[in-house]
Amino acid sequence: MNASELIDTARLMLAPGKGLLAMDESTPTCNERFASLGIPQTEASRRAWRELIITTPRLADSISGVILYDETIRQRCTDGTPFVKLLNDAGIVVGIKVDTGAKPLAGHAGEKITEGLDGLRERLQGYSAIGARFAKWRAVISIGPGLPSTACIAANAHALARYAALCQEAGLVPIVEPEVLMMGGHTLQGCAEVSMQVLHEVFEQLYVQGVLLEGMVLKPNMLLPGLNCSHQDSLDEVADATVTVLLRALPAALAGVAFLSGGQSAELASARLNAMSQRHKWRLPWALTFSFARAIQQPALEIWRGGAANVMQAQRALGHRAACNSAAQQGTYSAAMEGMGNAINDV
Ligand code: 13P
Repeated sequence: MNASELIDTARLMLAPGKGLLAMDESTPTCNERFASLGIPQTEASRRAWRELIITTPRLADSISGVILYDETIRQRCTDGTPFVKLLNDAGIVVGIKVDTGAKPLAGHAGEKITEGLDGLRERLQGYSAIGARFAKWRAVISIGPGLPSTACIAANAHALARYAALCQEAGLVPIVEPEVLMMGGHTLQGCAEVSMQVLHEVFEQLYVQGVLLEGMVLKPNMLLPGLNCSHQDSLDEVADATVTVLLRALPAALAGVAFLSGGQSAELASARLNAMSQRHKWRLPWALTFSFARAIQQPALEIWRGGAANVMQAQRALGHRAACNSAAQQGTYSAAMEGMGNAINDV
C-alpha cells in the first residue's frame, strides 16, 4: 500500500466545492430505469446515456470523480475516445463499482449480503491498469420488524472491510457504502439508531482489517424518516440528526464523507446537504460532500428518454443538478437556484 498516493487521491475526490457522480448502475438496474421511461434496454442506449453524462459541458467544475460500471469503463465516445481518457483529460478521477450485488442472506429472510470478494484482488489490478483510482462497494441494510439482524450488520461490515483492505493494497481508494434503506415506516430516530449501530460495526471491522482511514471515503445514507413515515422531519432536523450520528460514530482521521441520495428527490437531496454545510461545516473534522446517482441523473434522464434531439437539454439539466450540489457542498445553495437550469449552465 502506498499511503501518500491513497491520501492524494482521496483529497482529489473530496476537493472543496465538488462531489462524486455515481453512474455505476449495474446493467439490470440501468435497464430498469430505462424501461420505466420507454428507453431501449440495449448496450447502445446505455453507452449513449453514459456518453451524454460525461460530455456535459463544465461537468468538472462541480464533479471531482465519477463511479463507472464494468461495462462503462471499457466504452468509448462516438468519436472513438475511451471514456476513461475523456474523464482523465477533464481532470475527473475515475472510479469503479466492484461488488457483484446484494444477494439474499442465508437464514435471514428479507436481508441481503453483498458479494464480490472472490477474485477481487485480480479484478482490482485489472481496473487499476485501465485507469481506475478508486472503487465502490455497496451494502444494504433494511429497517423493519426485527430488522436489521446482528448477522446482517456483521456480515456486511466484514465484507466492506475486506474489500477496503484489498482496494488499498491495489492502490485504489475504497468508497465504503453501508446504505440503510429509506423503505419503511420508521421514524428519523429509528433510522438514527440503526445507522449508529451499522457505522460502529463498519469502523470496528475497518480497524480489525487495518484499513487506512485517511485513504478511504465513507458513503453513508443521510438520516431520514422512512418513506412511509407519517412525520417527515424538516431540513434542519435531518441535518442535525445526520451530523450528530456521524460525529459520534466516525473517527476524525477519516478522509471524508460523500452521501448517497437513496431515492430522495433531487431538490431535497441538495437542500439537506446544504443545511448540513451551513449549520455544521465549521465543526466537522472530515470533508462532507455528495456521491449521488439518482439525485443528479434522474431529471436529465426524464428529459433525454433516448432521443438524440434531447441531448443538449438533458445535459443542461444534469449540469444544473451538479452545480446545485456543488453549491450545497459549500452551503450556498438556495431554492432560488431551481428553475434557473439554463441560466446556470450558460453563464
Ligand atoms: P443514489 O444516489 O441513487 O442512492 O445512488 C448512489 C449509489 O451509488 C448507490 O450505490
